[in-house]
Amino acid sequence: MKTYHIIVVPGDGIGPELVDAAIQVLEKIQELSGDFRFSYAVHEAGANFYQKQGVSISVETLEAIRRADATMKGPVPDGTEAGVLGGVLRSGFDLYANVRPIKLFPKVAIPLKDRPPQSIDYIIVRENTEGLYASRARGLMLEQAATDTLLLTRKGCERICRFAFQVARDKSRGAPEDGRRRVTLVEKSNVLRSFYFFRQIFAGVAREFPEIEAENLYVDAASAALIMRPQHFQVIVTENMFGDILSDLGGATIGGLGMCPSANMGDERAYFEPIHGSAPDLVGKNKANPLSQIMAAGMMLEYLGRKKEALLLEKAILQALEKEGFHISSNGLVEEGSRRVAAVLREELAGCYERGI
Ligand code: IPM
Ligand code: MN
Repeated sequence: MKTYHIIVVPGDGIGPELVDAAIQVLEKIQELSGDFRFSYAVHEAGANFYQKQGVSISVETLEAIRRADATMKGPVPDGTEAGVLGGVLRSGFDLYANVRPIKLFPKVAIPLKDRPPQSIDYIIVRENTEGLYASRARGLMLEQAATDTLLLTRKGCERICRFAFQVARDKSRGAPEDGRRRVTLVEKSNVLRSFYFFRQIFAGVAREFPEIEAENLYVDAASAALIMRPQHFQVIVTENMFGDILSDLGGATIGGLGMCPSANMGDERAYFEPIHGSAPDLVGKNKANPLSQIMAAGMMLEYLGRKKEALLLEKAILQALEKEGFHISSNGLVEEGSRRVAAVLREELAGCYERGI
């Protein structure tokens, strides 16, 4: 039987609770599918680990991640160590594409008015190894001034643009507004040369995909558009820091970061995590929304070639929300408690498998 070797990094704060919920769901999928299994190796990394060991992650864990089929990571706090850990994993393994789906599910309370579930459904492809965050932990701070450098390389721009067009081509649906496949480059070429460079490379890559619409949007206009007309977007490709900011903005429009999974992908490796931080104030309260981590596990299933299982999981989440098995309230928390979510999804999955959808 096919075995997938998964490294599990539970992270800090609510991380272990979220990861536990995701594993419960994966165990059910493994049981129902019957033709593959997961073997998990749990490794500590993040802020707690840093306090004990003086580094965010050990060399042994990095080596284990290198050898594994995939890594499932919980959130770590938003401190410098977390930034460094992100940098070590993303730049260290050259995971240049940070894929962040922004999708509105049924019955989730959101701040925008009159938005039916299908009307927000786009993917942000955030460049993950360069841009302004190329300066991660490398900035210069003097007594009276400080500087960080924004770096965009031809290779970096080309590969992230190509990746985004492939995502647009392979995504099951076009933009909600008109069904069109469309990649929007978000940049600021009216002010910065580096973004003009990005824009030219984007235009070149767009010519390789004539069937997909390509357009540019300045980042300031894009932040308004994601509120005013989110239905227009199918895939957004952008620089590292812009992607960081816009993905939180997008998350706020679909029920908070608890609804936002992400995949950090390179040509050979990938790790999967929720977008949000470790929410120390929610630890042990049974309130955090684990769907971000569970949907990240879904992205991992797809990455491992288990497309059918990934689709069944998405279906189970849709149905559980539709039937109001649990509620995501306007503050992004789960009313019935986070532990309930995995239990409801396990039941829903059994039904989906039985019906074969
Ligand atoms: C993210 C996070 C990280 C990042 C932080 C924790 C450093 O904000 O993944 O969006 O941007 O690199
Ligand atoms: Mn972020």
